[in-house]
Amino acid sequence: MIFSCPHCFEPLRPANCGWDCENQHSFDIAKEGYVNLFVPTKGQSKIAGDSADMIQARRTIHEAGLYEPLAATLCDVISEHIRKPTSVLDIGCGEGYYSRYFQERIPTHGYYGIDISKAAIKTASKQNSTIQYAVASAFRMPVESGSVGLATRIFAPSDDAELLRVLSNEGQYLEVGPAPRHLWELREALYDAPTPHAPHRVALDGFDLVQHGQCHYPFDLRNDQLQQLIAATPFAHKGHREKRNSLLERNQLTVTMAFEWRLFKKQP
Ligand SMILES: C[S@@+](CC[C@H](N)C(=O)[O-])C[C@H]1O[C@@H](n2cnc3c(N)ncnc32)[C@H](O)[C@@H]1O
Ligand SMILES: [Zn+2]
Repeated sequence: MIFSCPHCFEPLRPANCGWDCENQHSFDIAKEGYVNLFVPTKGQSKIAGDSADMIQARRTIHEAGLYEPLAATLCDVISEHIRKPTSVLDIGCGEGYYSRYFQERIPTHGYYGIDISKAAIKTASKQNSTIQYAVASAFRMPVESGSVGLATRIFAPSDDAELLRVLSNEGQYLEVGPAPRHLWELREALYDAPTPHAPHRVALDGFDLVQHGQCHYPFDLRNDQLQQLIAATPFAHKGHREKRNSLLERNQLTVTMAFEWRLFKKQP
């Protein structure tokens, strides 16, 4: 168990139908098995992160295998570099695709996932009750210091100081984002002057870079998959409306899937 109380940061322990800390802050376990540890800061809404519609769309494109070659690449990276059983925390885990994928193939680790979206965590928990999911912010993680052997952050926000805090000594951190030409065909269809994603950082204070790489492949989308992909990404609201409408009518589109990953190790 890596989670701590979001109010006082004392460890959480099982109690009655949920968890509590030594200061009597208590948290119910939802029927799906997750715990809500999100405490909004002043002025922050209780409803945050991706909507239920976006989560459902992302689940559909994951089921269609759009991101499977990336998940397989990341699995290889984890198998090669994380040899001893440890706690793996997926930050901004969404509907849980990667944590499920990793657990099925490398079951020796203990898997945890957090996301600020309740809809995401509810969906993730419904799919897998052996991974412990919690609604929580990546910027103030209710996670015990030094308790995580591998943190993954896959197209999600996070805070570097928080990462350093939760990682164990020489714990590792896998950061994944889009490569410059990711979904280039969508950008070309939606914008007059599309721009590539900026290259990602390979240096991070407090960490040593262990290895980095890219993963590229084309994917042939049917119309329904194209619609779900757009609904699952910020493209749903970006670009020209008319261009988006004509894109949504395409019967088929081959898109470039292109990712960059970097594995860092916390400095001793
Ligand atoms: C692009 S999605 C990626 C989800 C998942 N990693 C995947 O690849 O399927 C970004 C995720 O980050 C979550 N998110 C956004 N802000 C967050 C925050 N402050 N703390 C935790 N999660 C956050 C969103 O709710 C969403 O599920
Ligand atoms: Zn507490």
